[in-house]
Amino acid sequence: MTAVHDSPGSLDQDAEPTAVVTVSVNGAEVTGRVPVRMHAADFLRQRLGLTGTHVGCEQGVCGMCTVIVDGEAVKSCLMLACQLDGRAVRTVESLAEGDRLGPLQEAFAARGALQCGFCTPGLLMTATALAYQGGRPDREAVREEIAGVLCRCTGYEPIVTAIEEYFAGLPETGEEEENART
Ligand code: FES
Ligand code: FES
Repeated sequence: MTAVHDSPGSLDQDAEPTAVVTVSVNGAEVTGRVPVRMHAADFLRQRLGLTGTHVGCEQGVCGMCTVIVDGEAVKSCLMLACQLDGRAVRTVESLAEGDRLGPLQEAFAARGALQCGFCTPGLLMTATALAYQGGRPDREAVREEIAGVLCRCTGYEPIVTAIEEYFAGLPETGEEEENART
């Protein structure tokens, strides 16, 4: 178990109530005390240093902060850190295998599905959550699924193509991704 320590940028814990949370993050259990109003996105970024989760609007609109909680894509700016207690979180940092990009990331790179990259973690985690459902979603289903993640750069076509190609390479049952749940 890893203890979570306060970081210089954390909220003033004397000014508001706190709670102890224990969370599985990318397969590793972490525990620590957090302000009850701290957002899950800030917990991941500021306390755990998992800055791959990006924050844009902080209002649930842009989808850039999407992570997977207990198998579901969740906008982490709309969730409190204390709500993560006892749950399993997966962030974009879990997709690479050591120094090697994971298959979904490779598909994005191959298709030029990113430019500035700010939306990319949200898209990657949304597509990963979709893979938990099994099957091979068609282009329309992919479009529908990623509708909650805004990209200002790419026009979406290469993103949809990359996700479609990723699913084409998965087993029909989606078992591979199911087994990869943390
Ligand atoms: S930062 Fe969470 S939806 Fe925009
Ligand atoms: S690549 Fe820039 S916002 Fe999507």
